[in-house]
Amino acid sequence: MKIIVTGGAGFIGSNFIFYMFKEHKNYQIVCIDKLTYAGNLSTLKPLSNNVNFKFIRADITDRNLIYQIFESEKPDVIVNFAAESHVDRSIENPSIFLNSNIIGTSVLMDACRKFGGIRFHQVSTDEVYGDLPLNQPDLLFTEDTPIHANSPYSCSKASADLLVMAYHRTYSLPTTISRCSNNYGPYQFPEKLIPLMIVNALQDKMLPVYGQGVNVRDWLYVEDHCKAIDLIIHKGKIGEIYNIGGHNEMKNIDIVKLICFYLKKPESLIEYVTDRKGHDLRYAINPEKIYSTLGWFPETTFSDGIQRTIQWYLDNGKWWKEILSGDYRKITEI
Ligand code: NAD
Ligand code: DAU
Repeated sequence: MKIIVTGGAGFIGSNFIFYMFKEHKNYQIVCIDKLTYAGNLSTLKPLSNNVNFKFIRADITDRNLIYQIFESEKPDVIVNFAAESHVDRSIENPSIFLNSNIIGTSVLMDACRKFGGIRFHQVSTDEVYGDLPLNQPDLLFTEDTPIHANSPYSCSKASADLLVMAYHRTYSLPTTISRCSNNYGPYQFPEKLIPLMIVNALQDKMLPVYGQGVNVRDWLYVEDHCKAIDLIIHKGKIGEIYNIGGHNEMKNIDIVKLICFYLKKPESLIEYVTDRKGHDLRYAINPEKIYSTLGWFPETTFSDGIQRTIQWYLDNGKWWKEILSGDYRKITEI
């Protein structure tokens, strides 16, 4: 089996590549990544001597290059992680999100059509469903919840999902889509809530909490997400959408306080700052479908996962300090 993993120098994509080599030692994986600010090639360094792994720097919107890569690599499966992924950046500058997240997805699917016989998996997000109220805890997102995206980021992901469904219906492209809740774990870029708070706390810097910190996210350890995608590309039904989430809803402020507790840092570092524009209140996934049809369930409790994540950032200061200094961007090959 040969898999092209796009966006594999980012957070979830790199964890997915490591997971797949652990589970399927003989698979071949080609990672395509543009190496935007969010891509960090030092993450993939442990694979530099693996003959079953190849890294190609490419932009998924570059049609000619993507076609060339598909022609020479002849993949069986594409797993598309490549995307601009940070909501705050999408609020500042939507256009790059539209280009990478929508046009990029269509170029990859066109390549699948051109070369034929290639299964396409789109890594999407629960944010396509919009948000849920804070005062109705029984309401959860199912796969039938209407799309109601609110930020430029989530609109770009929702648009890509619609295109994936259209390519399946119109061209019979063998597609699947997964919509996952918030991930956390090793190698997450320190602009997202959990790694930002850990890295700031370790430097005794302020911890900026948007609004009152009451917004709720449904947190999943990244390896559990990887396991779900592995199941979907092997056993998922073509044309289907699968929600992935761990029934682990938490308020932002509680997470930040927990990080202070584990790092033995004072809560006085917490600073309430101006809220995110259009800030989604609550996300919560109903994962019943993937549980009942594919037998997936999250294995890592939040208590274990957050302690492992904090320990990882403590043990891997070099990784995040190279990001803070900008040195990571000098690494362009492994
Ligand atoms: P990330 O920002 O850490 O990584 C994205 C990677 O994609 C980077 O390596 C970047 O260089 C690459 N990339 C961006 N634009 C590209 C382009 N045009 N061509 C090639 N490569 C490009 O993101 P992440 O958090 O790992 O998220 C991965 C995917 O999972 C995204 O599609 C995101 O929407 C989705 N997702 C993320 C979460 C989460 O909590 N982080 C949850 C659900 C779904
Ligand atoms: O739900 C899945 C989504 O989760 C993914 O599709 C996105 O790619 C991913 O970035 C994430 O989106 P969020 O906006 O939920 O994640 P973020 O880490 O940016 O923020 C989590 C919550 O914490 C959110 O309510 C905003 C808040 N926040 C975030 C930052 C960066 C703060 O209060 N302070 C901060 O500094």
